[in-house]
Amino acid sequence: MVHIPQRQGLCVLTLFATAPLLGLVAAHPEELTQERVQNIAIIGAGAAGSSAAYHLRRFAEDEGVPINVTIFESRGRAGGRTRTVNVYDDPLQPVEQGASIFVRVNTILYDAVQEFGLQLVKDDDGVEERLVIWDGETFRYEQNEGSSKWWNYAKLFWKYGMTPLKAKRLVDSTIGRFLELYDEPHFPFTSLTQAAIDLDLVKLTGITGGQFLQESGIGLDFSRDIIQAATRVNYATNLAHIHGLEAMVSMAPDGAMQVAGGNWQIFANMVRASNASFLYETAVTSLELQKSSTVDNAAPKYILSTKATGPRARGDSKAEPGSDAAGKAGFFSVSTLRRVKNPKTRQTEYLYKVFSPEVVDPDFLSRLLGVEVPSTFTGRGPTTDDEPISWYHPTCLTRNGLYYTSGIESFISTMETSALMGKNVAKLIVNELAGKDEALGGSQKGSSEDDASSSSPGPQDEL
Ligand SMILES: Cc1cc2nc3c(=O)[nH]c(=O)nc-3n(C[C@H](O)[C@H](O)[C@H](O)COP(=O)(O)OP(=O)(O)OC[C@H]3O[C@@H](n4cnc5c(N)ncnc54)[C@H](O)[C@@H]3O)c2cc1C
Ligand SMILES: *[C@@H]1O[C@H](CO)[C@@H](O)[C@H](O)[C@H]1NC(C)=O
Ligand SMILES: *[C@@H]1O[C@H](CO)[C@@H](O)[C@H](O)[C@H]1NC(C)=O
Repeated sequence: MVHIPQRQGLCVLTLFATAPLLGLVAAHPEELTQERVQNIAIIGAGAAGSSAAYHLRRFAEDEGVPINVTIFESRGRAGGRTRTVNVYDDPLQPVEQGASIFVRVNTILYDAVQEFGLQLVKDDDGVEERLVIWDGETFRYEQNEGSSKWWNYAKLFWKYGMTPLKAKRLVDSTIGRFLELYDEPHFPFTSLTQAAIDLDLVKLTGITGGQFLQESGIGLDFSRDIIQAATRVNYATNLAHIHGLEAMVSMAPDGAMQVAGGNWQIFANMVRASNASFLYETAVTSLELQKSSTVDNAAPKYILSTKATGPRARGDSKAEPGSDAAGKAGFFSVSTLRRVKNPKTRQTEYLYKVFSPEVVDPDFLSRLLGVEVPSTFTGRGPTTDDEPISWYHPTCLTRNGLYYTSGIESFISTMETSALMGKNVAKLIVNELAGKDEALGGSQKGSSEDDASSSSPGPQDEL
């Protein structure tokens, strides 16, 4: 059990995606004096927790508020679902298995990349060479260039008329409204739900992507062929099961980029720059409000229980079988990530990323690749030299009845939005510590519960 000692109060901030957002509780501002160090616990060093730690330090320095931040992370590393694996186990060949891309308007990530001197790899470095959309029976659309700049291709206009342009305007105006969340008067927001209402975005989150596109006059063919292809690539979800806002976000990766060597470095650097104590392989197992206090009007005190965790077993989870969510195609999307040279055979090979509702088997792979994948291929043990698949790294997102309960994730699930949530919470805490928004004390708790309760079905990640 870890009891964080404190004199007047403890801010507890819980930020993680696959478990509930437990709430945000800060000390009573009227009891604080600037000299007293405020202890703050962050649970989880994913995009949200790392960003919270990083921004806490910046905002606290701006306000001259002394803080002492501790991050509890059950894994052995920062980054959460932003995870990089090495092709052929070669550190020179990293590939993103979780969160892969972000865009220029993701200013929290982009600015951090600049500040930490990280190198960017852009999508136009020839990552995707050909885009083919297949519905399981016929090819709906093909183009010989990458998927990230599809607005520019004349071919799209021959086939769908002015609809692509209309869709692009819709995406741009939606993203424009979303970006208002970054600045006053919307930032910092005490309730994401209220901010979404104020920005007229709830309209989009309350209906499916399909309904939103239909209401916006986007033709069914284009929606199904092109936009749904994007939602399958980005969220492994069809238009009927994703809300309007995320459907728009799926269409936004114009000029997508990633960090050379792995996006996780953004978050590892944020943790380092935060000056917080980073307790890794330490899972928080409970969080308890200590009710009684000997001092009248003392600020609430929390006790965290923790458990040491070793390196987690990976790749041994099972997807729930029998899901036909992907339709006739049998998979959501297949991305050609890049050409790679096999270190053993020196031959050029292709690296693919497959999103599918079920564990892929040799049969499925044979059909997909058009070559005989031996039935001995299990997707588990090492491959032999004569197999057509020389390297693979399976991971499953199990749908076991759990729901995402973290507010931002049911709104938009990206590294940037989680980082924004972290930054927002950092600002709220520091404002309160600095005695700025005194009225927030009550509404803050209420609003985080409110947001936490807005859950939507989603895959539970086991990356
Ligand atoms: C396959 C896949 C592809 C994706 N692609 C993209 C993409 O291209 N671009 C993009 O922007 N986003 C993408 N995302 C979404 C993105 O990964 C998430 O939105 C983002 O990582 C959420 O950040 P988070 O900090 O909220 O949660 P997480 O990244 O899940 O971090 C939570 C952290 O908390 C830790 N933790 C949880 N419980 C405890 C506990 N009790 N005690 C201690 N530690 C705990 C976990 O170990 C983890 O490190 C993708 C996600 C997946 C799964
Ligand atoms: C800072 O937090 C750590 C827990 O990580 C605690 O051990 C330490 O005493 C705290 N320091 C102060 C000055 O409160
Ligand atoms: C960083 O943390 C240490 C304690 O871990 C503290 O003594 C020091 O003042 C902090 N530095 C800054 C710049 O916050």
